[in-house]
Amino acid sequence: MSKTVGLFNKIADHYELFNILTSFGIEILWRKRLRKFIKGKNNLILDFGAGTGVFSEYVKNKGTIIGIEPSVEMIKRGREKRDFIKFVNSFGENLPFKSNTFDYVISAYVMRNLDSLENGLKEIKRVLKLEGSLIVLEFFPPQSSFFKFFFRIYLGKIVPFFYRLFQGSALPVNYLYNSIYNFMTKDDFKSLLEKIGFAKIKEKKLVFRISFYIKGVKSGES
Ligand SMILES: C[S@@+](CC[C@H](N)C(=O)[O-])C[C@H]1O[C@@H](n2cnc3c(N)ncnc32)[C@H](O)[C@@H]1O
Repeated sequence: MSKTVGLFNKIADHYELFNILTSFGIEILWRKRLRKFIKGKNNLILDFGAGTGVFSEYVKNKGTIIGIEPSVEMIKRGREKRDFIKFVNSFGENLPFKSNTFDYVISAYVMRNLDSLENGLKEIKRVLKLEGSLIVLEFFPPQSSFFKFFFRIYLGKIVPFFYRLFQGSALPVNYLYNSIYNFMTKDDFKSLLEKIGFAKIKEKKLVFRISFYIKGVKSGES
């Protein structure tokens, strides 16, 4: 069992609402931007670490969507809400798909949760078609002192407080804070993508500069 799957099993019921409330709805705007990265309407798209499938909601008219997700409770909620996604219960480090299958792999807020980020990214590259794209939405540790201070208070104190109110239990409330602050920097993540063989790596900054889109392409030259 991966380090966070137990946590997501426990919070599956409130996961989406909790995210919207604690981000004051901003995460909806961040997620909406995904549409701009996906061209055409006949794609085969893999939502990697799909959770309840909320990220795929924004590209459901862009092709067929398969979601892989290790938490059975997240999949259960996802199947109740989104019948346009074919959910597969799997870990990202060992994908049950043939090589060169998908036009796009999309993934929101999963990279920090992988037991082996490198193996997960290698698997993504393997299952992408040549010239297929990986589009990651992820939190990275803030760089400026102001945002470091602001998010330390917000993620370390205020979010856990809301979480306890909501969930009625003291789950690993520091999960969000710890997983973001202990994660690699955005530049290190881009270097890792390059090392694994992704090309044409681009980033898109989002408001507050804690959440970013990073895109990489499985190029013929890589
Ligand atoms: C913060 S949630 C994001 C869910 C969804 N992508 C979204 O946009 O809301 C992180 C997800 O990563 C999943 N996860 C944890 N370990 C994983 C692994 N090894 N491979 C794939 N997904 C994993 C969790 O079960 C959880 O659903």
